[in-house]
Amino acid sequence: MNVLTKNSEIVRMIWDRYINEESVVIDATCGNGNDTLYLALRANKVYAFDIQQEAIDNTDKLLKEHDIENVVLICDSHEKIDEYVSENIDLAVYNLGYLPKGNKEITTNAESTLISLEKVLNKLSVSGLVCLTLYWGHPEGKLEREAVLKYAEELDSSIYHVVYVSFPNQKNTPPEIVMITRKK
Ligand SMILES: C[S@@+](CC[C@H](N)C(=O)[O-])C[C@H]1O[C@@H](n2cnc3c(N)ncnc32)[C@H](O)[C@@H]1O
Repeated sequence: MNVLTKNSEIVRMIWDRYINEESVVIDATCGNGNDTLYLALRANKVYAFDIQQEAIDNTDKLLKEHDIENVVLICDSHEKIDEYVSENIDLAVYNLGYLPKGNKEITTNAESTLISLEKVLNKLSVSGLVCLTLYWGHPEGKLEREAVLKYAEELDSSIYHVVYVSFPNQKNTPPEIVMITRKK
């Protein structure tokens, strides 16, 4: 597999460098659970959020098929992360947008994503990572992309290091990746 040609492979390659069997991880948008499963196989504990019960059920089914028991599934918005997670976080992943093949009206949005991001950064371990994949081919996604980029650009560079990945020769608003790591 040519890893650079698939954004999901690029992020996983990077996640692998930030987690081990002791890590506490957040999947802020579990959807059908593919990323949750990937993370659960590599981390100590995963908190997985989604606002759709259908997504939580799909994730639960996938995890059970693989005998995974280290995931806390939460059917609630990731903007309430502080109500569910007490530990420091080593990795938080956001796969933004709507559920593929699901209801396109139910999508992440700028306001709740930024509230969640702020709370996650307050809990992020030193050398921890927040990784957001932005899908901006739909109207809410465009607003969300602008808001996340502005927020990331304004983070204190003495504390955070931000990396922004785009795919400039791909057609049709290809996804982008924003990564934020805590330096101290
Ligand atoms: C692109 S999908 C995630 C796909 C998932 N990573 C997978 O592997 O299948 C985005 C998900 O975010 C969920 N979502 C939207 N707003 C949310 C919120 N405020 N908190 C948590 N999840 C949310 C949607 O219900 C949808 O399932």
